[in-house]
Amino acid sequence: MPASKSLPALVLSASLLAAGVMSATAAAAADGAKVFNLQCRTCHAAKSSVAGPSLNGVAGRRIAGLSDFAYSSALKSKGGSWTDAALDAYLAAPAKFAPGGRMFNAVAAPGDRAAVIAYLKTLK
Ligand code: HEC
Repeated sequence: MPASKSLPALVLSASLLAAGVMSATAAAAADGAKVFNLQCRTCHAAKSSVAGPSLNGVAGRRIAGLSDFAYSSALKSKGGSWTDAALDAYLAAPAKFAPGGRMFNAVAAPGDRAAVIAYLKTLK
């Protein structure tokens, strides 16, 4: 087949692929919103409270980085920032990630963790 015929097909399938990836991310964030509303929102509101720190802008932020929340020394001494991997490890097993920390809520299913992390990234 001449290249002039196969190139448009290639471009088309590449853009379909990109669209698929984008909607998968959006779908994950939408699923993550459900997980968040059910499992996180009681303690994590837009503003920090005694129940928990605000998670607006948490993705990429310094771990235990807000000045308006009294974090445990366990979380404060972690260092580093909230990468995807750190968020995943924390949400998989908070007591293992920060022994002696104040949050105990885990998200057991890896797919739910990925979804809620995608959602956290939409919180600015
Ligand atoms: C019962 C209350 C409670 C629930 C429910 C809860 N958290 Fe937390 N979360 C906390 C507290 C308290 C801290 C601070 C922990 C510490 O200081 O050790 C925290 C800290 C965090 C942090 C670190 C924030 C920072 O500024 O470093 C993230 C991320 C987080 N929670 C995500 C979640 C997610 C996602 C959910 C839902 C799956 C969730 N939490 C459910 C109470 C809660």
